[in-house]
Amino acid sequence: MTIIRKAVFPVAGLGSRFLPATKAQPKEMLPIVDKPLIQYAVEEAVDAGITEMIFITGRNKRAIEDHFDKAYELEAELEAAGKVKLLEMVREVIPKHINCMYIRQSEPLGLGHAVLCARPIVGDDPFAVILADDFMQTVAGQPSVMAQMTAQFASVQASLLAVQDVPREQTRQYGIVSAEPFGDRLEKVRAIVEKPSPDVAPSTLAVVGRYVLTNRIFSCLEKLGKGAGGEIQLTDGIAALMEYETVLAYRYHGRRFDCGSKLGYLQASVEIGLQHAETGADFAQWLAERNQLA
Ligand code: UTP
Repeated sequence: MTIIRKAVFPVAGLGSRFLPATKAQPKEMLPIVDKPLIQYAVEEAVDAGITEMIFITGRNKRAIEDHFDKAYELEAELEAAGKVKLLEMVREVIPKHINCMYIRQSEPLGLGHAVLCARPIVGDDPFAVILADDFMQTVAGQPSVMAQMTAQFASVQASLLAVQDVPREQTRQYGIVSAEPFGDRLEKVRAIVEKPSPDVAPSTLAVVGRYVLTNRIFSCLEKLGKGAGGEIQLTDGIAALMEYETVLAYRYHGRRFDCGSKLGYLQASVEIGLQHAETGADFAQWLAERNQLA
């Protein structure tokens, strides 16, 4: 039985919906309250037992590398000032047994191309893909979405796409699958199409930013030309993969915030702000007072 040990984090997109915030940093470094999106994503992978984190970086790669690296000066200053809790927080950004690796995507040629860039490190293994701007929340104590998917993979040994139903008017924002029942929360994908308009979308079952893929995806991506939006699309690679292997859609347990969009980002910030140990109570009170005034 093969176990998923590697995760690919494509973080080389332009993040144009968040300009100017993303002019000099990747959107995955935007914080939800006090933690960057990419750290939540890595924590989700760690929860799934993944130990090898592969970041596909672009022109603004430094912030992410620095975030997961040791910060000697900062740690020395916090230590000298006796700020023990903050020091622990900084040191625990990434557990010691985790390896971080970085590959540069020289041009943002699309998500499919970004995933293909991971091939030299991923090799023959099946692997996870996590899009950090899809921020996933599960109930405390429940497995993360990626942990649910790696557990599913352990039994089905087939590529998995996280899916959720979306309103039909939103199909243009997603890869959309048509599928047939397969098992508990699982469906067998029959077809997948990138960003169809609502009138031609084969269903309203949308792929979101969590995947477990077999390594055959690389040879499929390699053969692709440009797809929708002039980019090399992961969706097209998955469509090609389906000619050789079963691909399953997994209806995850949890709640997703589309933090690639301003509205989703704001919603996640409010939600996590309300749950936050430091800010939760005061923020809830402020919101209640504000709602009364409105
Ligand atoms: P998006 O479709 O959200 O694109 O990419 P984007 O460029 O980051 O954002 P906008 O649309 O301009 O605002 C989905 C994911 O794929 C990564 C992004 O970083 C994001 O995590 N990506 C996309 C790459 O790593 N490389 C690419 O060439 C394209």
